[in-house]
Amino acid sequence: MTRFGVLGGSGTVGRVVVDRLAGAGPLRVGGRDAGRAAEVCASHPGAEPVRADLADAAGLAAFCAGCDVVVNCAGPSYRVLDRVARAALAAGAHYVDAAGDVVALDALADGPPARLADRAAVFSAGLMPGLSGLLPRVLAAAGPLARLDVYVGGAAAIGPLSAVDALLTRGPRFGTALAAWRGGAVVPNALRPLRSVALPGFRGRVHAWPFLSAEAAGLAAALGVDELRNHTVYVTEEIPRALAAAWADEEGPVDAHVPAVVAAADADLAATGPYYTLLFQAVPREHVPGRPRRLVLRTPDSYALSGVVAALTARALADGAIPPGAHLAADVLDPAATLAALRGDPLVTGVELT
Ligand SMILES: NC(=O)c1ccc[n+]([C@@H]2O[C@H](COP(=O)([O-])OP(=O)(O)OC[C@H]3O[C@@H](n4cnc5c(N)ncnc54)[C@H](OP(=O)(O)O)[C@@H]3O)[C@@H](O)[C@H]2O)c1
Repeated sequence: MTRFGVLGGSGTVGRVVVDRLAGAGPLRVGGRDAGRAAEVCASHPGAEPVRADLADAAGLAAFCAGCDVVVNCAGPSYRVLDRVARAALAAGAHYVDAAGDVVALDALADGPPARLADRAAVFSAGLMPGLSGLLPRVLAAAGPLARLDVYVGGAAAIGPLSAVDALLTRGPRFGTALAAWRGGAVVPNALRPLRSVALPGFRGRVHAWPFLSAEAAGLAAALGVDELRNHTVYVTEEIPRALAAAWADEEGPVDAHVPAVVAAADADLAATGPYYTLLFQAVPREHVPGRPRRLVLRTPDSYALSGVVAALTARALADGAIPPGAHLAADVLDPAATLAALRGDPLVTGVELT
């Protein structure tokens, strides 16, 4: 039987991972506050709460020991990078990260653990990054695409820990603002923000900010798409404004801007209520009757849905469906099977494939 360890299992994302893994095997739930972990375990008989701080190497190793799959939902992800992955692999466990992105994958590639020969480490197993790079592959399954437009966003509360991650998502290793992918290369300054536009699946008028993320560029290259435009969608301009103000402050510590990002997300929530939409629009190179060209997926809770994706990834590892090595989830999850699983999850309130 597969033993799962969920570090950060008492957090917003982690609680859902624990919930979706219940019944799949014995569960260990970790965090610095053992009381919070115990609270989560109370609704899952047999689940074991463990006090673990990822900053403490011995404690982290003890948390991973005996696990077959370790899922990390503790962060900030862009400070943690590959630390928990290395501990999980050293303990002989597979690894799943609800965030992580290409920067964590690169950190692990710098002196890769020998255990990657027979164990897997899967990063970006969330919504964005994660589903944002995986689901477009459903539209590309029937043949190559000339163009792909990606819009992901909505309104969600951002906790202080995730706010640090949002603030750290800056610089060429994460992506390029206003860039597009054209003819096999990143084209800087190709696009402009779409202000106050109506988009299928989004509420009222929204603001779509072009950002060619590392994930989107990797997706474009993998699919061989002629042009890809990737947008982050905001219901107000409060978040981009808060991020711009923080990034203009070259001197101050990143953490000083956390309250402003949290407040900006709260303002978005007040404007529309909680919702998140992933919209993918494709233009195939060749017209094939009946081939889907648009995929819309809706959820009321982007954080919780990231937990669903991380749990699906952990189950895929337990089933032997992911090969050894270090990966991004979008490269190793089955797009159609994942979409089918999401359709059956109560956190997905709509899927349209047309
Ligand atoms: N890919 C995506 O789409 C996506 C979406 C949402 C979030 N995320 C990422 O998911 C991660 C979790 O976000 P969240 O909103 O769920 O955070 P959260 O609600 O603050 O939860 C964090 C969890 O990690 C634990 N934790 C924090 N510091 C720790 C440490 N040093 N050692 C061990 N455990 C620690 C916390 O418990 P204690 O306080 O008791 O330690 C808690 O259980 C973040 O990195 C975020 O960026 C990704």
